[in-house]
Amino acid sequence: MRKVLFVGLSQAALVAALVLVAGPATPARAQENPFDTLIDVRMGERVFRAQCGRCHGRDARGNDETGAPDLTTGQFARASTDAGMFSVIRDGIENTAMIGISPRASDQTVWQIVSYINSLNLDPGDYDLPGDAARGEQVYAGADCSSCHMIGGEGGRTGPDLSTVGSRLDPDELASSLTDPDAEVAPRWWTVRVNRADGSTVEGLRMNEDTFTVRIMDSDENLWSFMKSDARSLERIKTSTMPAAENLTGSEVDDLVAYLFSLRRES
Ligand code: HEC
Ligand code: HEC
Repeated sequence: MRKVLFVGLSQAALVAALVLVAGPATPARAQENPFDTLIDVRMGERVFRAQCGRCHGRDARGNDETGAPDLTTGQFARASTDAGMFSVIRDGIENTAMIGISPRASDQTVWQIVSYINSLNLDPGDYDLPGDAARGEQVYAGADCSSCHMIGGEGGRTGPDLSTVGSRLDPDELASSLTDPDAEVAPRWWTVRVNRADGSTVEGLRMNEDTFTVRIMDSDENLWSFMKSDARSLERIKTSTMPAAENLTGSEVDDLVAYLFSLRRES
């Protein structure tokens, strides 16, 4: 019972977060997907896992038992355009197990799922990248990216795991996440600064938060728990902790993008 209630609440919170990020509602069923940024892809992924994964698989690769098709191939029998996919997700497919998403889901959420599904089929062959992946791997090591990021189980945890980042982000998105990290920072990566009653401060990534407590991880990966009532104030810093790649030359950025784009799920 409690668990169900909790799920309900966290979905409500997610919907609230979506509304906050997006602002006013968008015109329904516009032809062009208005929600196709990085953060939209990630939001779409979350909703997909929660609501579609039980049939299509958490990784969207389909499931023979439920008859739900693999959605990572880029080939769709019923959804050849973004608008077509929007309708399939919104309304379902008649006389099949594919029922439409809950009517409570906003159009924005549906578009975000479309963006997520589209992001699953980025074929390296479709891109003519200027950079060199092998050189990019060296740049990665030299620039100390692994102090925050993990690849294949090695590295830090104060940034997202990059092991399969190439399946998630296209080359343009990768480049902008390097040169302009503050552009789209998901709440998961915001910094919380706790000003304590004794005047000292601690800051780090927000790991958990409820009405009374907040738990953060500082840049050395130490975990801290605070009673909110003990803190003088709590600030949220919505910029990225990731330094912009200012010291890298253009061709180093190209090489890094080629390397990161090569990091993908095994197929
Ligand atoms: C109860 C199981 C079930 C759930 C839950 C479900 N699907 Fe499906 N989905 C199916 C089945 C089965 C089909 C194939 C229908 C058919 O025969 O054409 C399908 C088809 C689709 C297609 C069309 C694929 C194509 O080739 O055109 C898309 C897109 C899709 N689902 C997305 C989603 C999304 C997004 C969600 C979550 C909001 C979702 N589905 C939830 C079972 C499910
Ligand atoms: C001080 C910690 C830190 C360092 C050092 C760092 N990053 Fe990041 N990085 C982050 C954080 C936090 C995020 C998530 C917030 C954001 O989107 O900027 C991020 C996001 C990213 C993303 C987007 C990932 C996604 O899933 O959206 C890429 C790609 C990336 N970093 C690559 C790199 C590379 C390459 C380097 C080395 C040149 C590097 N980072 C150095 C902390 C760091």
